[in-house]
Amino acid sequence: MKAVATYSIKGGVGKTTAAVNLAYEAARTGARVLLWDVDPQGAATFFFRVKPFVRGGAERLVAKGDLGDHVRATDHAGLHLVPADFSMRLLDLHLDGTKRPTRRIGALLGPLAGRYDVAILDCPPGVTLASESVFGAVDAVLVPTIPTTLSRRTLDQLLEFLATRPSSPSVLPFASMVDRRKSLHRDVMAALAEAPAGLLPTAIPTSSAVERMGVQRAPIAVTAPRSAAAAAFRDLWSDVAARLWPT
Ligand SMILES: Nc1ncnc2c1ncn2[C@@H]1O[C@H](COP(=O)(O)OP(=O)(O)OP(=O)(O)O)[C@@H](O)[C@H]1O
Ligand SMILES: [Mg+2]
Repeated sequence: MKAVATYSIKGGVGKTTAAVNLAYEAARTGARVLLWDVDPQGAATFFFRVKPFVRGGAERLVAKGDLGDHVRATDHAGLHLVPADFSMRLLDLHLDGTKRPTRRIGALLGPLAGRYDVAILDCPPGVTLASESVFGAVDAVLVPTIPTTLSRRTLDQLLEFLATRPSSPSVLPFASMVDRRKSLHRDVMAALAEAPAGLLPTAIPTSSAVERMGVQRAPIAVTAPRSAAAAAFRDLWSDVAARLWPT
């Protein structure tokens, strides 16, 4: 099983949108997919119409260590979800009470490795103990990056932080909410593409169809299958899969 996180220090950049759509696209290719909603906002849980409930709360989830107990089916074949509820706001605190907090999320995922081809962790914004535990658990961190000055700065902060660690997942930034009519977006994307971490080839356009996903509570491939954004998420999954399983 490969594991990836949709992650950014910055909020509101498209992490959950990517997690939901990439999980769906991965399942559509026949992969067995586990989407773990690690964010107390529970937005990925909401999109997949699963009840936002963690039995025993985050404390039990972290302490007891049987993530399989928390897995729920979704409306989509091959796509399972571990829901979040508000107890996940204290994830850091509960991780801190364990012996090896930065290894704990990996330890929770480990027993499910035979059941899934890929796990996607939808993370809250910020850089916390839980983020470090996620970094210890995943093969790659997918970083939605809106092509603006501050987003680029935040990506640089993440890369600098990960460089201080003895081992880190690969960082796969991709352009999110792109508006090619804006010269700033075009300029920042060109600069990011040249930067050491690069950018995955597929950019996700700004799209009102993406915003409307929340109304129908389903991936964009279901709600607006012919939209440019639906095609972009399909291509983005191909980019990610090529990096996870190089031929
Ligand atoms: N490509 C897009 N085009 C237009 N709107 C988008 C796009 N991607 C995301 N959005 C909208 O931007 C908002 C934030 O998106 P999303 O929730 O995916 O970000 P996030 O990084 O997960 O946020 P948070 O940090 O709160 O978890 C949502 O209202 C979403 O519908
Ligand atoms: Mg989110």
